[in-house]
Amino acid sequence: MGRDLRGKVAVITGASAGIGKATAEAFARAGSRVVLGARRHDRLERVAEGIRASGGEALPVVTDVAEAGQVEGLVGRAVAAYGRLDLLVANAGIGYFARVEETPLEVVERLWQVNVLGTLHAIRAALPVMRRQGAGLLIVVSSVSGKRGSPGSGLYAATKFAQVGLCEALRVELAGSGIAVSVVLPVGTSTEFFEAAAAQGGLRVEPMGPVQTAERVAAAIVRCARRPRPEVLVYPPARLLVILNALAPRLADALLLRFRRRLLGDRLPGPP
Ligand SMILES: NC(=O)c1ccc[n+]([C@@H]2O[C@H](COP(=O)([O-])OP(=O)(O)OC[C@H]3O[C@@H](n4cnc5c(N)ncnc54)[C@H](OP(=O)(O)O)[C@@H]3O)[C@@H](O)[C@H]2O)c1
Repeated sequence: MGRDLRGKVAVITGASAGIGKATAEAFARAGSRVVLGARRHDRLERVAEGIRASGGEALPVVTDVAEAGQVEGLVGRAVAAYGRLDLLVANAGIGYFARVEETPLEVVERLWQVNVLGTLHAIRAALPVMRRQGAGLLIVVSSVSGKRGSPGSGLYAATKFAQVGLCEALRVELAGSGIAVSVVLPVGTSTEFFEAAAAQGGLRVEPMGPVQTAERVAAAIVRCARRPRPEVLVYPPARLLVILNALAPRLADALLLRFRRRLLGDRLPGPP
């Protein structure tokens, strides 16, 4: 069963939809008190009301993770309300689908601000509280795209790689502090993610390869909170791609060429 999550205080970013919403609901079902951060006030309120209606405790705090001050405010509200912070789930994120050479610079900057700096702001806001406590768990929601880039999502993948690198460094920096760090790597998940990405421009795509539910990712995150692990591959067979890419990147390229054809409408190289 692992750690008891009853009474624990969990801050979850991107909790108004998708994986973050499902994660907040799953932690609340496990008895944790959840503090929900995202930009859309109405959606956050609805998630919080649903949790309270089921007997849970939830505090919605409107937050843009790209703004360091707002993320500090989110963690500050959690500590003011509940006196501590046991878990941070840095989940808020956005995507964009286009070739690397066709991704506008302002989109690249926004991807970086939300996915990388947003994660960093959350970690930096949580760490002083967890250091004072001598305990805590940081969970970062990256992606299998943070282990292997795919055609059509290179700049998104770059932000997901950055999250993985950040977590790897932090794990060692924080060893012995009582604070653990986990990175979660979902495959394609049926949420509003692809719709939200298309609304920013670029390609309108569906998840490719295996598709899982947000609830499945949330269950993996809660399992990780009970028994922290450095890295969680929500769809375990995805490990094969990670290993293949580490050992034989050319073979991984060949595998991903079919995505290039499907996503970007390219002819494959070779004889006509
Ligand atoms: N869906 C997938 O296939 C997939 C696969 C692998 C990894 N992931 C990762 O999983 C995480 C969650 O994605 P999802 O699939 O649940 O997407 P989603 O359904 O689009 O939800 C994204 C969440 O992030 C929030 N968000 C976006 N920009 C924000 C900002 N600037 N400040 C605060 N919150 C912000 C959104 O809330 P507001 O709009 O209300 O701010 C929403 O709650 C992301 O990090 C994503 O990279 C997703």
